[in-house]
Amino acid sequence: MPESRPDYLPPEVQEILLSSEAIERRVRELGRQLEKDYAGGRLKFVCILKGAVPFAADLMRATALPVALDFVAVSSYGAATRTSGVVRLLKDLEHPIEGEDVLIVEDIVDTGLTLGYIRELLARRGPRSLRVAALLDKFERRVAEVDVEYVGFRIPDRFVVGYGLDYDERFRNLPYVAVLKPDVYRGEGA
Ligand code: PRP
Repeated sequence: MPESRPDYLPPEVQEILLSSEAIERRVRELGRQLEKDYAGGRLKFVCILKGAVPFAADLMRATALPVALDFVAVSSYGAATRTSGVVRLLKDLEHPIEGEDVLIVEDIVDTGLTLGYIRELLARRGPRSLRVAALLDKFERRVAEVDVEYVGFRIPDRFVVGYGLDYDERFRNLPYVAVLKPDVYRGEGA
């Protein structure tokens, strides 16, 4: 029996928005949904580095389907927190996706610019199907319209970290999603 311990709460955290239990439950539901939607098939997860790593790792283990894994990296945000609107491909897929059922796995959709770029890029490579799973949807901030077929949680426009999401490369390893105290990012915006 695993030892239970209270979640570590760094002083920069204002409040926990989504507990690790809530995330685990939702990821399990999404995993079962994928099993239904792709019954008898196999999936290629395209995980967007780096924030989506914990979500992709948990989601692939929440489904009984055969899942292959590949990665892309793009740069959209700098160390600062505002979306620049400029998306650049830093690392491409290792393998072709032609004829495959592809699921893009993202941690958060904010303006939608990153996902819009990746969806278009991958669609041009002739996958059999192309869908998106995003853990978080910050819908109020959307600038580019983009389809997201599987959403974990719709969240308000607050600065969130944890479960893959960072502030200046910190807090990615928190097992929950938390709101950062505003004085930590000194009004750079969320
Ligand atoms: C974050 C997030 C999405 C993107 C969402 O990535 O993981 O990819 O921003 O923002 P958008 O909808 O406004 O485009 P980030 O550039 O912070 O990289 P990271 O995942 O490596 O932290």
